[in-house]
Order: sequence, then C-alpha cells, then structure tokens
Amino acid sequence: MTDKAAPVDPRPIRTFGRVGGRSLSARQQALVEDLLPRLAVPEGLSDPRMLFPGAREVWLEIGFGGGEHLVEQARRHPEVGVIGCEPFIEGMAKALTGIEANGLTNVRLLMDDARPLVAALDEGCLDRVFILFPDPWRKKRQQKRRLIQPDFLASLYRACRKGARVRFATDVASYADEALGYFLGHGGFDWQAKSADDWRLAPADHVTTRYETKKLGDCAPVWFNFLAQ
Ligand SMILES: C[S@@+](CC[C@H](N)C(=O)[O-])C[C@H]1O[C@@H](n2cnc3c(N)ncnc32)[C@H](O)[C@@H]1O
Repeated sequence: MTDKAAPVDPRPIRTFGRVGGRSLSARQQALVEDLLPRLAVPEGLSDPRMLFPGAREVWLEIGFGGGEHLVEQARRHPEVGVIGCEPFIEGMAKALTGIEANGLTNVRLLMDDARPLVAALDEGCLDRVFILFPDPWRKKRQQKRRLIQPDFLASLYRACRKGARVRFATDVASYADEALGYFLGHGGFDWQAKSADDWRLAPADHVTTRYETKKLGDCAPVWFNFLAQ
C-alpha cells in the first residue's frame, strides 16, 4: 500500500505517558516561558521549509525525550532545519537548555503530540525522521498505544519526500517485530539492512539518548533505517 492517502484520525489514542513532572528550575521555567514561544512550531503549519529559509533539508525527531540527540544533530548540521516534538515538559526544558547553550538557530519545537502535525504537513516535505526508543507500552493491553501503527505510517509516508530517510530504534523485542512488520507492510518504506549488523549496531551518525543508556528493554537496541520510496 504505497498510496499517499490522508489518515482518517490523526490522534486516535494517546501514545505518551506523563507530560508534567517535578517542578522545573527557575532557569528552565524561564526558557519555557521566553525561548519556547520563539521556537514554537506555528499552529496549522503545512510547509515546514518556511521555518528554515535557506536550509538544505528538514528533519523531524518525534519524542526526543531530553533532547540529547536532537540538539547534537542540529549542532552537527547547521545547514538543516530540525523540528522536535515532545509533550513532556521536563524533556522540553532540557532541550531548550541545550539549544541555548549551543546557540542553535536551526531548531523548532512542538510541545505536543507529533501526529496531528505530521498529518497536517504538505506531502513530501520531510527529508529525514528519527523515532528513537518510543514508549514501548509492553503490556499486551497497552500495545495499541504504541506510536507505530499503520495509520500513522501512512501519514508519515505522505509527509516524507521520495528518498527521505526514516530511523526507528527500540530495545523491546515485541515492538521491534511489530514495528518492522508495519513498516514493511506499508510497502513505501524500503528497509536498508543488507546484513544483521545493519540493524544490530548503532548507525555511525547516531547520538546516544538518555533512555537508551537506561537499558530498560528486553533486548539489545535494534536500528531500522528505511528509505521512503
Ligand atoms: C521512551 S521515551 C524516549 C525518549 C528519547 N527518544 C530517548 O531515546 O531518550 C519516548 C518519548 O516519546 C514521547 N512521545 C510519545 N508519544 C509521542 C507523540 N505522539 N508525539 C511526540 N512525542 C511522543 C514521550 O513523551 C517520551 O518522552
């Protein structure tokens, strides 16, 4: 199924856990109040390229957690515009701290569910997408809350240009199996693995994330890299 069909319901069920947590430090609170509004993805955005005039590509990270990967990729690639989505305010505050500390001007942020944004984006406007260690929702009855679902992949595929790169990582075996099945079942995502090392070893350009270092999963991390075709 490679048709670029619009999804029916962009927000079918909540895929994330808590959005609030311990109180923020005064510095973090100030960043959320002052810097976040300046970097926020505008409501109703359809063409993300307008956020990054002159940028070579637009990348999207969904569920960036503490922002370690988002900030480092943006720092390494000033020629790229990077959008990060994360509903958890503490993670957002950490990312803002990194953005400010590195003086980054090529990041825009959404403190909310990424799915309605993806669904509203113009066809073919994303060049690269990272989904790293999404909430695993391990219990059988919770698995419907996993981000990777056929409807979402249809929506993501539509927003990706032909040749866009999509990376998914998890350390939960049942999620790895399920997600790979959904990506391949969609038909528009070409799995780039040629040997087992291609999914067993972290890609050379990967930046280790906080969640990854916790090793909470039931398997070693797996890395699935796809090309939208
Ligand atoms: C298990 S954490 C991993 C965070 C980070 N990628 C890492 O590896 O450290 C998953 C994150 O995805 C976020 N998340 C879950 N569903 C999301 C959605 N629909 N849109 C944006 N972020 C989401 C959660 O709030 C959470 O912070």
